[in-house]
Amino acid sequence: MARLDDRSTRRDRFHKKAKKEGFLARAVYKLEEIDTKHQVLHAGDRVLDLGCAPGSWLQYARGVVGESGMLVGLDRGPLQKPPPGARIVVGDVATIAVSELLGELPAFDVVLSDMAPDTTGIRQLDQARSEVLFERALEIAMTTLAPGGNFVGKLFQGPDFKRLTEVVRSKFGAMKIAKPASSRQISIEQYVVGKGFRAERSGER
Ligand SMILES: C[S@@+](CC[C@H](N)C(=O)[O-])C[C@H]1O[C@@H](n2cnc3c(N)ncnc32)[C@H](O)[C@@H]1O
Repeated sequence: MARLDDRSTRRDRFHKKAKKEGFLARAVYKLEEIDTKHQVLHAGDRVLDLGCAPGSWLQYARGVVGESGMLVGLDRGPLQKPPPGARIVVGDVATIAVSELLGELPAFDVVLSDMAPDTTGIRQLDQARSEVLFERALEIAMTTLAPGGNFVGKLFQGPDFKRLTEVVRSKFGAMKIAKPASSRQISIEQYVVGKGFRAERSGER
């Protein structure tokens, strides 16, 4: 019972902090922690955020990339309060065309994915659905990232975790696994960070 109280206190603390600081979700502190540790975002970057609603990662990204940066967000439904200056695409990651995400841009410098399945409580099913979302996010990253670009993707720890992290390791200069403090410690969610995309095609950055 004490542990449950600790968890809800922590959730409540991050929720209150986000509200006070004007962020749309407490998820912002996960990206902030990952970015502070791994420097995935930089001024002027072109950023794609998959599963962007309600929009706190876009808010954080804007603060780092500045006015010269470009933000594109995808989610299944429209955002209630879309962060100013971000182009929002409504659609499902499984079927969205990469050209629709890129729009006029030749490539992205950073691809983020905080996508999570609607959880059922059946661990194996939730893991399998998370793996599908992660793999699709990685596929989009490998198609749209400029050489040297960075990737962050949420992945529930499951049977395919090792295989998927090995794919990231093979396609990026460095692969790290992050478990932010603001993510519940009992949660099976992890973030896989790929830095320095090794593009096999000719692109620009
Ligand atoms: C944890 S929330 C993201 C929170 C966001 N990072 C923020 O800071 O506001 C996960 C999002 O993934 C989206 N999502 C899940 N499956 C998706 C899919 N197949 N296509 C697009 N978005 C999806 C959900 O609609 C949800 O808004």
